[in-house]
Amino acid sequence: MTPGAALAAFDGICAGEIDEEANWQWRIARRPQGIVRPEDFTLHSEPIPQPAEGEVLLRTHYLGLAPVMRFYMQGTASTGYAQLGVGDVIHGRGVAQVVKSRHPDWRESEMVQGQLGWQTWKASRMTPQEKFFRMPKNGLPAALGAGVLGMTGLSAHAGLFACGNPKPEDRMVLSGAAGGVGSMVSQMAAKVVGCDVVGIAGGPEKCDFIQRHGCAAAIDYKSEDIAARLDDLRADGIDLYFDNVGGETLSAVLDRLRLHARIVLCGSISEYTRSEPFGLTNYTRLRASDARMQGFFVYNHLDRWDVVMEELASWIADGRLKPVQDIEKGFAAMPRALANLYYGANVGVQCCSVRGEPEEWL
Ligand SMILES: NC(=O)c1ccc[n+]([C@@H]2O[C@H](COP(=O)([O-])OP(=O)(O)OC[C@H]3O[C@@H](n4cnc5c(N)ncnc54)[C@H](OP(=O)(O)O)[C@@H]3O)[C@@H](O)[C@H]2O)c1
Repeated sequence: MTPGAALAAFDGICAGEIDEEANWQWRIARRPQGIVRPEDFTLHSEPIPQPAEGEVLLRTHYLGLAPVMRFYMQGTASTGYAQLGVGDVIHGRGVAQVVKSRHPDWRESEMVQGQLGWQTWKASRMTPQEKFFRMPKNGLPAALGAGVLGMTGLSAHAGLFACGNPKPEDRMVLSGAAGGVGSMVSQMAAKVVGCDVVGIAGGPEKCDFIQRHGCAAAIDYKSEDIAARLDDLRADGIDLYFDNVGGETLSAVLDRLRLHARIVLCGSISEYTRSEPFGLTNYTRLRASDARMQGFFVYNHLDRWDVVMEELASWIADGRLKPVQDIEKGFAAMPRALANLYYGANVGVQCCSVRGEPEEWL
C-alpha cells in the first residue's frame, strides 16, 4: 500500500463528530503490528469527570504526537509511565486549561502542559509522574507547549547541547532533519552555535525545507546513496552526528568520523517497525578517532526545564529559531496524526488542535 493510501484508510475513523457533552478518548483497540493502522484505535466517550478534593479539571486544547506512542500502544515503552493494556487511553502530553480547581497549588484559568492522555478532558491530582508545568506568559502561542516549547524542544536542546557539545565550525550531520526534533536541532546548531550542518530527509520538498531551516546541504535518503553523498559533502569527515534514525545511516556515519567526533543517540525511528533488530557491526570505529557515542533520555533533563524554555523562547523572539509545528485539526484526527510520523507525512512537530483551535491562539 502506498503511504497516501495507508493514510487515507484513516479517513473513516478520523471523521467522527466530537462534542462538548462528553469526555472523548482514543483507546487501544489492539496491539499495533508494524506501523499503526485504523483498527488499532477505538473512540470512546464517557461523562466529563468531576474533580475530587485535591484534583483539577483540565480541558485539553493541543496534543503532541511522538514516535514513542506506538511503543505505548504495544505496552513496551520504557519512559517511566505505566505500561498500557488493550482498552486503555493512550498516553500523550499536551496543553490544557484548568477549568475547575480543588487543588491548593493550581488556579482556575491557568494554562498548563503535561500528561493528559488522548482525551478531551482530564481530572488530575497533578502528580509528579504527570510532569505538569505552567505555561510561561511570554506572548508565544499556547500550541507551542505541545512541541517546540514542550518535550520536543527539551529533547532537541538536551541532545544538542548537553550531549553533543557543539562547537562553531563543527562539520555536522543530522538525520530526521525535517521532523520535530530535527527541525529544531538544525536551526539551533546552525544559527545559535554556527555549525555547518548537512541534513538528511526524505524527498525533495523536505530537502528544500531543511535548507531553509539551517542546513547548508541536504541528502535525500529516499533517492540518494547516503554513503556516497557523505563522501561528497563531508569529504573531511564528521565532527558531530545527531542521530534520529539509527540503522544504516548511523553505520555510514561511523565510518566517516573525525578526531574527537561526537554521536548523539536521540532516536532510531528507521528501526522501530523492523521485525528483526538492526545489528550495528562497526561501532568499534569510535576507537580510531577517540570518538564518543552518547544516548540521552529527555526526562533525565527536566531539572533544566525553566532555563531551557526561556532560552528557546528567546531564540524564537530574536528570529534564530522558527517554530515549525504541523497541526492536524480536531481530536478525531489523532490516529492519522500518529500514522503521519511513520509515513514521514509531517514537517516539524506533529500536533493536533483538539477543538480546531487556531495555531496562533495565546
Ligand atoms: N531520546 C529522547 O529522549 C527522545 C525524545 C524525543 C524523541 N526521540 C526520538 O527522536 C526521533 C525524532 O523524534 P521526532 O519527535 O522528531 O519525530 P518525527 O517528528 O516523527 O521526526 C522523525 C523524522 O524521521 C523521519 N523518518 C521516519 N521514518 C524514517 C525511516 N524509516 N528512515 C529515515 N527517516 C525516517 C521522518 O522524515 P522523513 O520523511 O525525512 O523520513 C520524520 O520527519 C525519534 O526516533 C524519537 O523516538 C527521542
